[in-house]
Amino acid sequence: MEKEQQVSMEKLISLCKRRGFVFSGSEIYGGLANAWDFGPLGVALKNNIKQLWWRFFVESRDDMYGLDAALLINRKVWQASGHEATFSDPLVECKKCHSRFRADELLEKYFKENPQVVHESISADLLKLDRDVKSFNISCPSCGVTDWGVPKQFNLMLKTFLGPVEDDANMVYFRPETAQAMFVDFKHILNTFSPKLPFGIAQIGKAFRNEITPGNFIFRTREFEQMEIEYFIKKDNWQEQFEGWLSEMKKWMAFIGLPEDRIHYLEVPDGERAHYSQRTVDIEFDFPFGKKELYGLAYRGNFDLQSHQDASGQSMEYFDEETKEKFIPHVIEPSLGVERTVLALLTGAYREDEQNGEVRAYLDLNMQVAPYKAAVFPLLANKPDLVTKAQEVRKAIQGAGMTFLPVAFDKGGNIGKRYRKQDEIGTPYCFTVDFQTLEDDTITVRERNSATQERIKVSEARKFIEEKMRGDL
Ligand code: GAP
Repeated sequence: MEKEQQVSMEKLISLCKRRGFVFSGSEIYGGLANAWDFGPLGVALKNNIKQLWWRFFVESRDDMYGLDAALLINRKVWQASGHEATFSDPLVECKKCHSRFRADELLEKYFKENPQVVHESISADLLKLDRDVKSFNISCPSCGVTDWGVPKQFNLMLKTFLGPVEDDANMVYFRPETAQAMFVDFKHILNTFSPKLPFGIAQIGKAFRNEITPGNFIFRTREFEQMEIEYFIKKDNWQEQFEGWLSEMKKWMAFIGLPEDRIHYLEVPDGERAHYSQRTVDIEFDFPFGKKELYGLAYRGNFDLQSHQDASGQSMEYFDEETKEKFIPHVIEPSLGVERTVLALLTGAYREDEQNGEVRAYLDLNMQVAPYKAAVFPLLANKPDLVTKAQEVRKAIQGAGMTFLPVAFDKGGNIGKRYRKQDEIGTPYCFTVDFQTLEDDTITVRERNSATQERIKVSEARKFIEEKMRGDL
């Protein structure tokens, strides 16, 4: 397979399940629609992404403040932020089979499948959506009948109740974005750290949305994780700050190894942006199912802080000691999804080539994100000397404490099978302990992509991996 070619979703989902990246949720009970569980390698990949993001955007900067806010938040927050009134998608129902769809997505799919059809851009306006779905005679993807109800706005926030009484007074929403807590806690950060503008608050955590049409594996789910920053600025230089953050996001994507030629930037036009945004750039990625949003960058003005000030009666103002002015800061928001990063990395890294007359699949993940940095094998599983030596080598490469590196150990099956397994999970280097190792303390190391081998001293194996890791920084 050429580098540019896309892996099919079937192949990728099968690899994810077979190798322990992602399992379908609640499977022994017939599953739960679009719920996915991350297995050992999926957790490792996700953790690497989140730790790298935290280091890249938070720890390595002096202008960033971390937060881990409660997931259940006072309902008044969502009323003030506008989510209760406007965080919705246009839902249309088939009158025959009662399947529900997003009206804009039905049109998007229809126009994609019928490129000859002349049409205007898809509107967010319900009346226009109604007219288009009906005038283009779109049939129901579930039952094939063309008989639609009138589209209506469907709020995406998931509800639950706090305490034993299930009434309106006890109803709360699961947060649909991590962002709001960073606005609500803005004053705490000002009061405890006295930061000077510009500065940011950063958070990683779960978000929930009752998506009408979840799907495409882990791309659109009802429960997912976000890595978000609210970067507070003075209004005057928002354009410059926006461009600066776009460039930081580009550096991040290069850092984790996303292929540049699959990344696109979409300036979201007026009328299609979220209710709070004055400018949004969607960072899109060529997934196997098409070009879709990977991340978003938005200029939210001072919409959120102003709304919370108005609704709570608490001042959200910042005092500028230089100019002696008080004002509500504006904000730039880089917003990144963890699962979409996983999916982009996996699809971007999937390769196939031919090794010894057989098709081989491997993940070209860089050292920073790969679940295991290396693997160690004894050449034969039934030779105790080789197994003991291989365990010692593994420990030496792993190290301990803060410098620990995850290193796999495998003595099952033949060596070819072990290589194929490590290739498929993206392990960059495999070390094999053989009979020569017992004589001269050297070891073979095989590089994943080229499958070429060299011999190095056992005492240099850890340094070898450390240097390769530095090379990927
Ligand atoms: N605070 C701004 C915000 O939440 P968004 O564009 O709705 O903006 C930001 O979401 C990012 O969160 C997206 O670019 C995507 O990476 C991720 N995301 C959003 N909805 C998702 C879903 N249903 N499943 C998985 N990831 C999602």
